[in-house]
Amino acid sequence: MPTDSIAALILAAGKGTRMKSSLPKVLHQVAGRTLLGHVIGTAGLLDCNRVVVVVGPGMDNVAIEAAPHATVTQVTQKGTADAVKPARDALADLGAGTVLILYGDTPFIRPVTLQAMLDRRAAGAAIVVLGFQPDDPGEYGRLIVSDDGALDAIVEYREADTAQRAVTLCNSGVLAVDAEKLFGWVDQVTDDNAKGEYYLTDIVAIARSEGMRAAVVEADESELLGINSRADLAGAEAYWQRERRALMMSNGVTLIDPDSVFFSADTQIAPDVSIGPSVVFGPEVSVANGVEIKAFCHIEGATVGEGAIIGPFARLRPGAVLDRDVHIGNFVEVKNSRLGEGAKANHLSYLGDATVGAKSNIGAGTITCNYDGFFKHQTVIGAGAFIGSNTALVAPVTVGDGAIVGAGSVVTREVGANALVVARGRQEERDGWAGSFRVEQQAKKDQLLKSKG
Ligand code: UD1
Ligand code: CA
Repeated sequence: MPTDSIAALILAAGKGTRMKSSLPKVLHQVAGRTLLGHVIGTAGLLDCNRVVVVVGPGMDNVAIEAAPHATVTQVTQKGTADAVKPARDALADLGAGTVLILYGDTPFIRPVTLQAMLDRRAAGAAIVVLGFQPDDPGEYGRLIVSDDGALDAIVEYREADTAQRAVTLCNSGVLAVDAEKLFGWVDQVTDDNAKGEYYLTDIVAIARSEGMRAAVVEADESELLGINSRADLAGAEAYWQRERRALMMSNGVTLIDPDSVFFSADTQIAPDVSIGPSVVFGPEVSVANGVEIKAFCHIEGATVGEGAIIGPFARLRPGAVLDRDVHIGNFVEVKNSRLGEGAKANHLSYLGDATVGAKSNIGAGTITCNYDGFFKHQTVIGAGAFIGSNTALVAPVTVGDGAIVGAGSVVTREVGANALVVARGRQEERDGWAGSFRVEQQAKKDQLLKSKG
């Protein structure tokens, strides 16, 4: 079966009322990525040739998140079989192949598990169901398997008899179905059941009655963690972070206190990076070999070059690009700025919309004044420059290679290469002034006290 004939159909029409949110459930995030984004990402790893997302009425924001993939709308929520129907046209030209039915609120199914389902499809099963054995089978649909291991039917909990309820193999809802047969079977599903809904699960019995084979692939319960509430969302985040920390460590990243480090779905960390306690990675971060990130750093949208040392207490914001061996120390914030190889900003600085040349030293308390209340402006510092402590660089401004800026300067004009600039009040000194001042003042005070008796 060619891989180009696999389509992922993601059901995401549920409002998710238990989230108590104005946002549709599938737009809530785990690891900085929407639940829907996680599912689409997994489908992408399977080389699906198309992804179609089923949304509810008015869920334009879900359609935007799904783009460039197609969305179709399920107008009324009449059950999981009804949810599949709006995708008929979008999947009409798929021909022979497989429709993989996934759920927007179940983001952690491993690609290998889905691949195993596709392999069973390729081996001739018309329907492959993803089953699991939960600790508590509760009200999940039950998978009724015959002696030869074939799947006979899925029985919903409400329709199940005592013997069927005793079955521990449950339906996850995830299916891989013969694309040419799917909609014909869905059309045969009725709502003649306890809930008065069109159960997608009924297609198994329908397929069997036509002499087709159905099969089960089993997943671990953890993969099927579904999200219905804020508490579930927090649990999902915790699960994802736990898994990712373990993966990072197995890839050669040192985490001194793994439980306190948070990654985003797209965080890229090279081997031999050491990460201290309480470090948070927002989206779009990549960190090269041998970097040390000390405790309490917040890093997003940043590219960190080999051998850099960051923190403790540093903040890297979007557009921060640090070349190799850069040092960023405590209470330094870097935004939309590139620091050249070996440049250092070790204490209490803000570098925004700046370019800092290789080996330059940015003194404690240096600030780029990049914003005039209306527009942002650039600061350009050459290579090997030395910016004295507590300098304000009023952008747009340029400091040439090798220049020295005296501490406490407010730099408003271009500084030439290798120049010394001191832009602050000139220091004045009056010999003995302080001594005579004290004598004078004390005399005045004594006089006053005496006159009051
Ligand atoms: C479904 C399965 C059940 C399985 C369980 C696993 C059916 C009939 N039953 O039951 O065997 O054990 O999932 O969680 O399929 N949805 C729509 N449109 C609808 C109805 C549902 O998009 O009209 C979406 C929901 O948003 C949800 C998913 O389909 O993400 C499952 O629907 P739900 O009503 O929760 O099915 P269950 O009763 O839990
Ligand atoms: Ca459910």
